[in-house]
Amino acid sequence: MKTRTLLFIAVIFLFTSLQIMAQNNDKHILVAYFSATGTTARAAEKLADVTGGELYAITPVESYTSADLDWNDKQSRSSVEMKDPKSRPALKGKKENIADYDVVFIGYPIWWDLAPRVVNTFIESHNLKGKTVIPFATSGGSTLAGSASALKRSYPSLNWKEGRLLNPTDEKTICTWIEKLGF
Ligand SMILES: Cc1cc2nc3c(=O)[nH]c(=O)nc-3n(C[C@H](O)[C@H](O)[C@H](O)COP(=O)(O)O)c2cc1C
Repeated sequence: MKTRTLLFIAVIFLFTSLQIMAQNNDKHILVAYFSATGTTARAAEKLADVTGGELYAITPVESYTSADLDWNDKQSRSSVEMKDPKSRPALKGKKENIADYDVVFIGYPIWWDLAPRVVNTFIESHNLKGKTVIPFATSGGSTLAGSASALKRSYPSLNWKEGRLLNPTDEKTICTWIEKLGF
C-alpha cells in the first residue's frame, strides 16, 4: 500500500513537472545563482530541473573562504561588503548570450537580510530589461521579503515577479510556485 502511494506521488510529480516544462517550452529560462557554500546551488539545480532552465553560476573572481563568511567578524570580507551598499565584487565572467533568455531566475544566500553584493554586480553587468526576473534564495531562517524588496528598489525598471525562499526545497513546492507565476 505504502509503495503504491509513493508511486502515485511520484507519477503526479512527474506529470506536473512535464506540464510545467511543456508550458515553458517556448520560453528560454536561465537559472542564475550565487552560492558560497552549496545550499543555493542545490536549490538552483532543482529549479532548473523543474523548469527546464539552464543553470548559470554567478562566480566572483575571488571565492569566499570561511573566514570571509564569518558574520561575527566585523572585518570579514562579507561584513565589509555588506556594510557598503556600493560594494560590487568583480565577476569571473559574464553570461555572454543573456539576450537569448526571456526569464531569468536569480538565486542567492541571504546575507544580512540582503542579496550578496555580487548579485548586484551580476544584475548591473547584464541587460535584463524586458525579461521576467524572479528572485529565489536560501537562508538560515530569514524570509525572502527584505532582500527581494531591496532588489526591486535598486532596479525598479526590471520586470520582477514574486520570488520564493527555497529552504527546504522539495519539487512539489517549486512546481506550485512556478505554476502560480504562469509566465
Ligand atoms: C555572511 C553571512 C550572512 C548571513 N546572513 C543571514 C541572514 O541575515 N539571515 C539568514 O537567515 N541567514 C543568513 N545567513 C545564512 C545563509 O543565508 C544560509 O546559510 C544559506 O543557505 C547559505 O547558502 P549557500 O550555501 O548557497 O552559500 C548568512 C550567512 C552568511 C555567510
